[in-house]
Amino acid sequence: MDHFHHRDGVLHCEDVPLTRIADEVGTPVYVYSAATFRRHARVFAQAFAALPDVHLAYAIKANPNLAVLRLLAAEGYGADVVSGGEMARALAAGVPRAGIVFSGVGKTRAELARGLDEGIGQFNLEGEEEGEVLADLAHARGTVAPAVLRVNPDVDAGTHAKISTGRAGNKFGIPIDQAPGMFARLSCRPGLALHGVAVHIGSQLADLAPLEAAYARVGELVAELRRAGHPVTRVDLGGGLGVPYRPGDTLPEPADLGAMVACVTEGWGVQLQFEPGRVIAGNAGVLLTRVIWVKPGAQNPYVIVDAAMNDLARPALYDAYHEFVAVEPTGDRMTANIAGPVCETGDTFAVDREIDRVASGDLAVFRTAGAYGATMASTYNSRALVPEVLVDGDRYAVVADRISPETILAAERVPEWLA
Ligand code: LLP
Repeated sequence: MDHFHHRDGVLHCEDVPLTRIADEVGTPVYVYSAATFRRHARVFAQAFAALPDVHLAYAIKANPNLAVLRLLAAEGYGADVVSGGEMARALAAGVPRAGIVFSGVGKTRAELARGLDEGIGQFNLEGEEEGEVLADLAHARGTVAPAVLRVNPDVDAGTHAKISTGRAGNKFGIPIDQAPGMFARLSCRPGLALHGVAVHIGSQLADLAPLEAAYARVGELVAELRRAGHPVTRVDLGGGLGVPYRPGDTLPEPADLGAMVACVTEGWGVQLQFEPGRVIAGNAGVLLTRVIWVKPGAQNPYVIVDAAMNDLARPALYDAYHEFVAVEPTGDRMTANIAGPVCETGDTFAVDREIDRVASGDLAVFRTAGAYGATMASTYNSRALVPEVLVDGDRYAVVADRISPETILAAERVPEWLA
């Protein structure tokens, strides 16, 4: 459920008409609903309320806007970060240090050191060498690094290949059969407190079965580690729950995930951790855009909008579907292709799609753009970096400025030998 609805013929985000945001901030612009973020955060937390010890670390890669992080921190969420930059954001937003989980397959030595100096709650190790380096860095500081070992369970998540992470052959984690040996070796190191294991098999999962299979394997590993005398106290079950993008999509709900987890993890006696991203942010945001032209095409008319693949990369990268809805629909429909101004055929949002009839100058949104939208934006074709707006009831604020091409140009230099 979200808070984007037509009221008196105009699409609103909560109590703010999108026409007003377009007039005052310009387009393209991402618009987020605070009420939707809060609702998703609470529904997800509620799904695990019956479990004794749960830590929720929002995967901030999905939407790392500072205001969004502040809002989710106020809901009690920690943060799953994958870079020094994300760590800095989580800290700036006031996420408690103990609630920060540092994931990522390529943490640099400098990033590991920063995490230690900041006193974050957990490092999710992706390999043995990383564990050795982290142990040495911690030992040299006279401290002990809290960590878990990420395993690769070799499960097909059944999602797009580019966002699948749990198959043998993917770069993530260590093969699960090598985990007991590596766990034993790393546990001996002063400077490292290995508390358990982590798993994350992919994103936009539409089926709980692969997750259940992965968790069951992790359960066997936990038992094996305990038999070997390791006190296992934490298991990070990752993120990955999908969201509906198309009208009529039915996906498992957080409550379904919660029920499955309660069943599979019964008797584990550990703190369970989750790293939800998309399920919190996806339907909390839209990309608001204005139609520049509608021009005839070979089969269908082309609706050329002022948003492009640099603003919302998902269709170009993953052939992702984002629903296109007119802000002031007339009731008429049309079949069209929707594309942006970037000079690539890949800059196409939809082909042969039935949509609300639109004309030059009309406003429309791409829905379900709150996750992996603005954060993946670029300035390709020397376009501005897209701004972000947060609506909360009847007020809104620009929570990320539009960065103009001139500002970006000002950071470039011509070396003196070319001047
Ligand atoms: N934890 C780890 C270790 C992850 O790698 C990810 C996502 C998450 C949690 C959060 O997963 P979520 O709950 O959002 O599914 N740009 C792609 C998605 C990439 C996901 C990467 N990892 C897209 O636009 O679909």
